[in-house]
Amino acid sequence: MEIRAAVLEEFAQPLQVTTLDLAGPKAGEVLVRLHACGVCHTDMYSASGVDPSGYAPCVLGHEGAGVVEAVGDGVTSVAPGDHVVTLFSPQCGQCVNCRSGRTNICVAIREQQNQGYLPDGTARLSRDGEPIRHFMGCSTFAEATVVSEFSLAKVSKDAPLETAALFACGLSTGLGAAMYRAQVWEGSTAVVFGAGMVGLGAVAGARLQGAERIICVDLSEDRLELAKHHGATDGWVASDDIVDRILAETDGYGADFTFEATGLVGVMRQAVESARMGWGVCCVTGVAGKGETLDIVPRYLITGRTVMGASFGGVKGRDQVPELVDRYLAGDIDADAFISHRISLDDINKGFDLMHHQDGIRSVVTF
Ligand SMILES: NC(=O)c1ccc[n+]([C@@H]2O[C@H](COP(=O)([O-])OP(=O)(O)OC[C@H]3O[C@@H](n4cnc5c(N)ncnc54)[C@H](O)[C@@H]3O)[C@@H](O)[C@H]2O)c1
Ligand SMILES: [Zn+2]
Ligand SMILES: [Zn+2]
Repeated sequence: MEIRAAVLEEFAQPLQVTTLDLAGPKAGEVLVRLHACGVCHTDMYSASGVDPSGYAPCVLGHEGAGVVEAVGDGVTSVAPGDHVVTLFSPQCGQCVNCRSGRTNICVAIREQQNQGYLPDGTARLSRDGEPIRHFMGCSTFAEATVVSEFSLAKVSKDAPLETAALFACGLSTGLGAAMYRAQVWEGSTAVVFGAGMVGLGAVAGARLQGAERIICVDLSEDRLELAKHHGATDGWVASDDIVDRILAETDGYGADFTFEATGLVGVMRQAVESARMGWGVCCVTGVAGKGETLDIVPRYLITGRTVMGASFGGVKGRDQVPELVDRYLAGDIDADAFISHRISLDDINKGFDLMHHQDGIRSVVTF
């Protein structure tokens, strides 16, 4: 079939919206008609050419939601008509990592996905007979896509697809970091650095876990107000002496949980240093620049802090994204509040501009 899609033709150039050929699903694959797709930092990072693992041409986009149109041989977990969210972090259920139950990092299709191909090592996207590579196993800046069955979470039909799309990346990453990875406890104190999509998700996740005090730290007063809407009890403007302030307000010990959601290694260090001595947990979710490292004075570890990170917030996509969407439907997460702009596929580059200027939390392409 022919589809319209936003193609990264060349790094650091605007995406080109053009017509491509999309082949039907092979065994284990699913054709999805997209209804919505969020614009995420990772798309912009890849488009910039700064990401050493990036490639072009390809169809970007990974925060997608849509309706299953057709399935390939052997697909049993979804059927035509199902509402689905795409998973850049797939879940096969059978690989050594999935079977361990200890991680959400599935390795079944990882290698091919990183190269821009579906699990059999080929692409379904092409133009004039020339293959065009997929992105993160999703390629959702397009009217339709073909993905592995492992890359789809089936979600409730009651959720609007434009909201469901947020659970494909940023929102689940933040929620999951607090709920599944760090496992915030009731009555605890949590500090969240960064009030973008991921940090606000962590604020909401900490609230759902029953944290008593949730301090959100950001440079933007507007974003701190949003954090309060999602459950922060305190909103503090970022500063060089923020660690001292956190220690001063936690009897000198630090917070039970700290979350970093900025991608800045200096802030990651602040998050480590403001975690409580004895048992504090620091969870890093931001993606640092190429080659950057995180400095930790070893004393912080000896004296009982745990530093951890999470890809996709530790969320096991096919099992847990549907659960998170159900919590949204139950009224526990105000996910609609994160959508700041709705744009058309033709305006995709405007989505990048808005993100660059930190205008709103999430722009969503609607089809
Ligand atoms: N681990 C994953 O799987 C995963 C998934 C999605 C995104 N990410 C990463 O998470 C990070 C956050 O993503 P986002 O979409 O929320 O980004 P965002 O840019 O919308 O939010 C970052 C926030 O950090 C704030 N900030 C900047 N400097 C700060 C400082 N010194 N102290 C406190 N806050 C500061 C900014 O004002 C902004 O509000 C990015 O690095 C992104 O690449 C990771
Ligand atoms: Zn993303
Ligand atoms: Zn797996």
